[in-house]
Amino acid sequence: MRGLFISFEGCDGVGKTTQARLLASRLRALNHDVVLTREPGGTQVGLAIRQWLLDSSGQEPLTWEAEVLLLAADRAQHVNNVIKPALERGAIVVSDRYVDSSLVYQGWAVDRPVDMVREINRFATQGIVPDITFFLAVPPEECFGRLNEADKIEQRGLTFQRKVYEGYRTLVREIPRLRSLNVAGESAEAVAAQIWDDCLKHWPWLAQGAR
Ligand code: TYD
Repeated sequence: MRGLFISFEGCDGVGKTTQARLLASRLRALNHDVVLTREPGGTQVGLAIRQWLLDSSGQEPLTWEAEVLLLAADRAQHVNNVIKPALERGAIVVSDRYVDSSLVYQGWAVDRPVDMVREINRFATQGIVPDITFFLAVPPEECFGRLNEADKIEQRGLTFQRKVYEGYRTLVREIPRLRSLNVAGESAEAVAAQIWDDCLKHWPWLAQGAR
């Protein structure tokens, strides 16, 4: 693959979406070919799946297995139709969430086998993993204040979010690709500057812009 794949992870309401956008804008300003995307819902099929997953208007509850597989189906569609073609043509893909979200939300946080979630996702993603993943390490107590109308997954409450946070911290210890950013109390601009520094450390050529 010729491109670069950067993903953002963290608890709900941590400001990942803002950071993914800021990084994409900075790269675009340097004329890089950037694909800014998100999960769940990065494709047309994915948007329908996202509705099922997050709509809390009284439908029958999803089983754990169905939830894992729906998220993996969303991801399979996303990888094949958006991420892989972009990487093949040499673009920079910036994704708001990716596989690590499933390992944490469908694995650790609900005390289910993480290895099984990992295996299903290996199949779904054709083995495509990010080059770097920024984990915005803000404890859930602080993120919670930022949430507006909580969706079905977010409604699981603070205890659940704590487990999500701990799950991410375990992942950070296990996987070198994950960079934990201590962003509590920092402005969005300051966090964006940290992220940009880290990107330049890995890929100094990014600063020169696209040829
Ligand atoms: P998202 O749209 O990123 O919401 P937010 O911006 O509030 O973080 O994600 C929606 C919810 O879906 C969020 O609670 C995390 C959850 N989710 C999973 O449980 N597993 C996954 O694999 C993904 C991608 C998201």
